[in-house]
Amino acid sequence: MKGMHVIVGVTGGIAAYKAVDFVSRLRKQGAEVQVVMTEHATKFVTPLTFGEISGHPVSVSMFQEVINWDVEHIALATWADAYIIVPATANIIGKIANGIADDMLSTQVMATKAPVFICPAMNTNMYENPITQRNLQTLRDYGYHIMEPDSGHLACGTSGKGRLPDPAAIIDWFDFTYHKSQELAGQTVVVTAGGTQEAIDPVRYIGNRSSGKMGYALAAAAARHGAHTILITTPTQLAIPMGVQAVTVHSAKEMKQAVDEVFDDCQALIMAAAVADYRVRNQAPQKLKKQEDFTLDLVKNPDILKEAGQRKQKQKLIGFAAETEHLIENARKKVDSKHLDFLVANDVSQQGSGFNVDTNQVSLVYADGTIKEFPLLSKKEVAERIIIALSELKK
Ligand code: C5P
Repeated sequence: MKGMHVIVGVTGGIAAYKAVDFVSRLRKQGAEVQVVMTEHATKFVTPLTFGEISGHPVSVSMFQEVINWDVEHIALATWADAYIIVPATANIIGKIANGIADDMLSTQVMATKAPVFICPAMNTNMYENPITQRNLQTLRDYGYHIMEPDSGHLACGTSGKGRLPDPAAIIDWFDFTYHKSQELAGQTVVVTAGGTQEAIDPVRYIGNRSSGKMGYALAAAAARHGAHTILITTPTQLAIPMGVQAVTVHSAKEMKQAVDEVFDDCQALIMAAAVADYRVRNQAPQKLKKQEDFTLDLVKNPDILKEAGQRKQKQKLIGFAAETEHLIENARKKVDSKHLDFLVANDVSQQGSGFNVDTNQVSLVYADGTIKEFPLLSKKEVAERIIIALSELKK
């Protein structure tokens, strides 16, 4: 969202207070934000609050004294890269759907060529009213982006659909929808993530330090590029990204089974998971009692990626390799032995790279020997580049 020009339209619902947090989060992400309010919205939150939070004077009336020529309604509508209404009442939805432009906000929405995002919030009966539903459908048909409201307790004392989602969820939806593209439309991309858990007994397991961040960022990027995305993940602390179908597994064996189920019908498999190479031969059925030293007998796990490489038809295969030495040399061997299209190699001994951090420095090592090196980037940015590299592979 860095450098993006966003107009946030605030209309007169009780959820208007949540828009303050939303604007603040948008600015933290680097967006430049200007707020436009309806008269009714100013009864819930003052323009002063939004002025302070956005860092710009707030427009309400068409006829207020012009503070700066640039805030004139057409100029502002042109300035916007995106226009988002948080919260959107039944009234503003009805006005936009029917071409009414009788205040600053509705006039700007009509005047802007930027994509418009609408976050409805209202009482359940108003939301479910067929007129509101018809108006929302009209807006969808014209290409407006509508966020689904949450269900739950409403300010009017009832419970049902119509709650404004949390500001963090609105940011995720806005970011996802704004950046969504179609490069991978019609394709199914399977991503594995997290570190496998190999049970010792019912309460203990052998694990590793993988946080799942890279795999989740890849799944988010694949979905953003239009792919039907299946994320096969071990339990992590992370939220399932927008538009992604998740399957939870624990061990390497479970992960292999989940991959096998979807592999034939997918166009790409990205194995970002840290899969344990070994599992305990005989898992104890009951919790092991404390005892003197003892030895765990380990048996080799299946190599999911290698087996996928042997059975692949047209699927693209991408592997990950965390190394602490001879990075490229080892990567080349893996590309060959696992029949990969490319391997994402990272030196986990470098600072800011690898496990449990938000950044990564990787090189892509291709089957034909080509190497693409990337600088130290956020995992989100690394994921974006990997997904673009996937979409650029020859069919
Ligand atoms: O050979 P190495 O384990 O270093 O290869 C790493 C790649 O292979 C990763 O993409 C990882 O997800 C995958 N892998 C696998 N099954 C294993 C071990 C690793 O699919 N048992």
